[in-house]
Amino acid sequence: MKSTPPMGWNSWNTFYDQIDEKLALETADAMIAEGLRDLGYEYVILDDCWALRERVDGRLVPDPKKFPHGMKALADAVHARGMKLGLYGCCGVRTCAGYPGSFDHEYQDARQMAEWSIDYLKYDNCNRPSGIGSELLYRRMALALRSTGRDILLAACQWGTEHVENWIRSTGAGTFRSTVDIRDGWFSIEAIARARLEHLNGGAPFCHDDMDMLVVGMNGAGVNPEVRMTGCTDEEYRTHFALWAFLNSPLVIGCDVRSLAPETRAILRNRDLIRVNQDAEGRAPYKVPVYGNDDAFVLVKALTGGELALGFFNFGDAPANVPLALWDIGLTLSSTKVLRLRDCYAQSSAGVFGEHFMATVPPHGSRVYLGGLEERS
Ligand code: GLA
Repeated sequence: MKSTPPMGWNSWNTFYDQIDEKLALETADAMIAEGLRDLGYEYVILDDCWALRERVDGRLVPDPKKFPHGMKALADAVHARGMKLGLYGCCGVRTCAGYPGSFDHEYQDARQMAEWSIDYLKYDNCNRPSGIGSELLYRRMALALRSTGRDILLAACQWGTEHVENWIRSTGAGTFRSTVDIRDGWFSIEAIARARLEHLNGGAPFCHDDMDMLVVGMNGAGVNPEVRMTGCTDEEYRTHFALWAFLNSPLVIGCDVRSLAPETRAILRNRDLIRVNQDAEGRAPYKVPVYGNDDAFVLVKALTGGELALGFFNFGDAPANVPLALWDIGLTLSSTKVLRLRDCYAQSSAGVFGEHFMATVPPHGSRVYLGGLEERS
């Protein structure tokens, strides 16, 4: 199992119940053609609505209209492309969309996933019998998956209830959803980010805080009535991607990758931000507030090898100057060091700084820099 946040694509945000094997394979092919697989986006994840409405002989069955060749054949085809297949399940009696849940079928369903060569199980939290908490049920499925002998990542879609971050890591899960479902609108991105900025140390290597699938590039499209909204500006989508990258959230694309706009492609393929997200040490960032402006802040993340990632964010509706006094990140005036920064959006040098740095950030925008300390010349 890999220690860094999972990366991939999930069907829910754009395709809702309109999923089939053709979509899965076309998506995998598009991810390869777009260079996304080689950047680390490895999972193709089919969300809710892949199964028949009822079990057959006690077993989950893929809807034969959507998956005429069955799940094993699809997993084999995805693996042949150098990628991994994820499926969706639920710890309750039924999934959120009303398909069969795994409650009291955990070991059977885990074995089924392994037989189909599934690599990732998104496990939702709907329709639990009343009085039964989620902790026991996530422990059950985590143990059931581990007992199969196959490396299947458990993505606990738990929505941040029951103090999940206090116990989820000990179950063996690889990620945990920490908030309500995302929507394709800035208000939703901002609400999720503000919630998780208060809990920056919730995730850690092998068990990451999942802020939900990306809406980057949806631009108001898709058939999901729960996610579809007016969409966001590219500036907002870029900020969304930067926040998810800094906060070590899984990077799971939610738009249609078969038709990416150039701006969407540039956001999803930002190698610097992917590196920030996938850094091996997996450290949480910390937040430096901006005096007198509650809508602006700086995130600082220590990367492997002494490098620093700095993110300047402006949630306000007007452009903002976002200053950073370098003593606030630990650089003293008495040191002999300066901070050299490279602008990750402009892909150019930003210069060398000894005392202060300031980024001018558009409304709902971000600026991201990578750098490190060096001797003052
Ligand atoms: C819940 C989850 C979503 C999605 C739907 C599917 O709402 O949080 O991410 O999986 O269920 O029904």
